[in-house]
Amino acid sequence: MWKKTTIAACCVLPLLLSCADPGTRTITWAVGKDPTGRHQALVDAFCRRHPGITVKLLEMPESSTAQHDAYVTHLAAADQSIDIYSIDIIWTAEFANAGWLSPLGGHVDTLQLKEFLPGTVAGCRYRDTLWALPWFTDAGLLFSRADILSESGSPVPKTWQQLETAAARLGAKHGMTGYVWQGQQYEGLVCNFLEVLWSCGGDLFDSTGRPSLDSPEAAQAVAIMKRMFDGNASPPGVLTYKEEEARQLFTGGQAVFMRNWPYAWALAQDAAKGSAVTGRVMLSALPAPAGRGPASCLGGWNLAVSRFSKNQADAVALVEHLTSFEAQKDFALNGGRLPTRSAVYADGEVRRAYPHFEQLYAAFRTARPRPVRPDYPALSDEIQLGLHRALAGNVTVAQALRELQERLMRMTSPAARRERGT
Ligand code: GLC
Repeated sequence: MWKKTTIAACCVLPLLLSCADPGTRTITWAVGKDPTGRHQALVDAFCRRHPGITVKLLEMPESSTAQHDAYVTHLAAADQSIDIYSIDIIWTAEFANAGWLSPLGGHVDTLQLKEFLPGTVAGCRYRDTLWALPWFTDAGLLFSRADILSESGSPVPKTWQQLETAAARLGAKHGMTGYVWQGQQYEGLVCNFLEVLWSCGGDLFDSTGRPSLDSPEAAQAVAIMKRMFDGNASPPGVLTYKEEEARQLFTGGQAVFMRNWPYAWALAQDAAKGSAVTGRVMLSALPAPAGRGPASCLGGWNLAVSRFSKNQADAVALVEHLTSFEAQKDFALNGGRLPTRSAVYADGEVRRAYPHFEQLYAAFRTARPRPVRPDYPALSDEIQLGLHRALAGNVTVAQALRELQERLMRMTSPAARRERGT
């Protein structure tokens, strides 16, 4: 199920000595596939400070949805082999509700919480309890090829219509793809959809908590996404892309525009990591319909300790290390990940490396969360399926939304929620 098991390099010696040295303890950290290449170094820094602890890194699948399903298999079986889980911000409620996480309030200095961006801490709480610490945050952004825009005298697209037109025109002119985003049937597709939906003024639920995919805004949002294919702004292959497929095309110089998370900026600036577009990329907020403001989806990953871990204290120590100022600064500078501590944004070195942080800080702070509810992953699975069918043209947009609305109504009915214990 796991793709690979690696053992932190700095900890190899303690591990080899562990038979002779009863003082050496091992903890295991499950974490998604690493596009930044920095996870190992973060663990190494921890091991240097805690020579008695060996850390095993378990690399999980890249797709958030696949990773979720792998975690559920382990946690539902009360698996003791994993001590720390890096969890997507949207799973906190589900995992806490299921009793799979250790509450952290009694273990970490809760005073430090005010040093984190408020939205990231909110994503670690469920029912007034702290279940994790925020590791890094994410917000969807538009990446544009600055050189191509300026050469053709085109402004950065501010509306979806402008993006569609510019992507189709500039893509064709330069013999490359216009606009790449995340269209595979997984959580990334829901993030892309919500950004369009919110920018249209819609939402997944109305103010009474009733699903609202029967709204005109939902129909408008799916139509905007579908038009990207119809108007040749995006190739049909986008329906198989996750973050990395889109990112590789864009940093390989084969796409004019991309929707992605901020980590892609650092990779776009790094020729050693294969970027063909260093110094030629600009970032901006995503488009919106004319006359409306943009919306960005709040993403991000938290670090939680498994309730089944036999080594809670060491696990908490690693969580505290990875979320510390020093580790977050390292991860920002060398991995391009957005910090969750405000002070890292104010750091001189970070500001010099990422001048756009200042300009986009407001977007990072105001990114909108997905619904905080234990059944969100189950609802999202349905949305992924319905949306993907509509975008692939297997059903009409109207039919897909009608079926989706019915399904979500059934799944969120009091009876269904009672049955699932949510
Ligand atoms: C990023 C975000 C996460 C989101 C995922 C979707 O990893 O941080 O919150 O669910 O992308 O692909």
